[in-house]
Amino acid sequence: MESMTFVLFGATGDLAKRKIYPALFNLYMDKMMPEAISIIGLGRREWSHETLQAHVKEAVHTYSDHEADSESMESFLQNFRYCSLNVTDPEDYFKLEDLMLQREEELNIVQNRLFYLSVAPKFFEVIAANIKESGLSQTNGWKRLIIEKPFGNDLETARELNRNLSEAFNEEEIFRIDHYLGKPMIQNLETLEFANPVLQSLWNNQYISNVQITASETVGVEKRAGYYDQSGAVRDMLQNHMLQMLMMTAMHVPQKISPEQIREVKKNVMEALEPLQEDTLEEQVVRGQYTRGDIDGEEVNAYTEETGVSASSQNDTFVAAKLNINNSFWQGVPFYLRTGKRLAQKSTRIVIEFKNPLKGLYDQEEEQTSPNLLTIEINPNESITLQINSKNLLRDGKIEPVNINFSANDKHLPQAYELLIYDAMLGDPTFFAHWDEVELSWKWVQPILDAFKQNTVPLHLYEAGTMGPDAAEQLVEKDGFKWW
Ligand code: BG6
Repeated sequence: MESMTFVLFGATGDLAKRKIYPALFNLYMDKMMPEAISIIGLGRREWSHETLQAHVKEAVHTYSDHEADSESMESFLQNFRYCSLNVTDPEDYFKLEDLMLQREEELNIVQNRLFYLSVAPKFFEVIAANIKESGLSQTNGWKRLIIEKPFGNDLETARELNRNLSEAFNEEEIFRIDHYLGKPMIQNLETLEFANPVLQSLWNNQYISNVQITASETVGVEKRAGYYDQSGAVRDMLQNHMLQMLMMTAMHVPQKISPEQIREVKKNVMEALEPLQEDTLEEQVVRGQYTRGDIDGEEVNAYTEETGVSASSQNDTFVAAKLNINNSFWQGVPFYLRTGKRLAQKSTRIVIEFKNPLKGLYDQEEEQTSPNLLTIEINPNESITLQINSKNLLRDGKIEPVNINFSANDKHLPQAYELLIYDAMLGDPTFFAHWDEVELSWKWVQPILDAFKQNTVPLHLYEAGTMGPDAAEQLVEKDGFKWW
């Protein structure tokens, strides 16, 4: 891999501590880092290089599951330098430039520069502008920008943010993180769908009856009420993670596997997505909010009782939606998405339910066959299960569903951030959100945001510890299905 400078804005922050430093360390230990790398951490605090190094060491000890011998740890930490910087002060960027140039010279590396914005979204634009104005992005190598979510707050602000970023970086240089795209099982969808003729030939409306994508969480709003109460499940999960999973599931095999082509087939899905209509939105979208309940035997507060949330908040902590994809592959196959906080279990999964034309084949009521199901567990367990019908070989020969299962649960899988940072260092954008995808996603959710804001759809309350409001059950039941 080419040598580079890795510039981390937000080096003293929570994400850096929990995800970025452990990921960098794991990559280092797995020899997946450039031989020569200068890592510069930036923050407002007046830290020394040594303070940052001690902070990184602590973070790695706490959050990485890689064994760390002291020699490797020391040589890893030697890559780090710190520069205190006020992101809004253009003068400070010259300080950064001095340090950067000095390190590039010491290490004798080309000016390949990766800028990572792990900061509050309100600083994205000013940082990009200052990088440009200060000349930091005029390099004799490449430059790239990694940016965290949320990418905008609605369609309009996302467009504006993109316009401003593109003043300093072009599309090929912008790596928009959606950490779901870094999950090994999501990345595996591409192979599952494209490299298996058996699945590929069934991947359409002739054989599939419906698709269900669930991301349920047991946690509540945690300490993020300030953010979450403004965001809700639609902005926090649906616009990005859920729609990315939908694209990865519904995309069809391209001519050739390349980052451009994968992104093209994902975009095709979004373009074929039937827009929601104001007057029928309620039939397709369910808005929910949790009340008091029981999670793992513990009584938990209602959303409106959480610290930082107003007692009259109408914010969505749950959303379920039925989506139609109007193309020749998926016409007539509903895609159901649901996500929420304080649900019965932590589970992210995709279930493909196949059509069951053999339902009436056997006379006996008890011999009705179950539909074939392909279940892809993404988080916290990773597995693929195919449910088929089989005679019960042991007992009375009755037909019953059995599972063919592959599970990666006993393996040490890489973390999403490891895979994503590695790809960004290589310059492979496959598992980053392209602007087209982001824009089309905001476009699709915008009518939901409007309806929730204007209160034109009901807010269904659900007890914490359940799988959401009854209305979400009815969403699939009225089409003759049930949530798996
Ligand atoms: C984040 C959301 O993007 O994803 C959080 O902001 C959510 O609210 C998290 O809890 C879920 O991620 P994971 O990897 O735990 O499923």
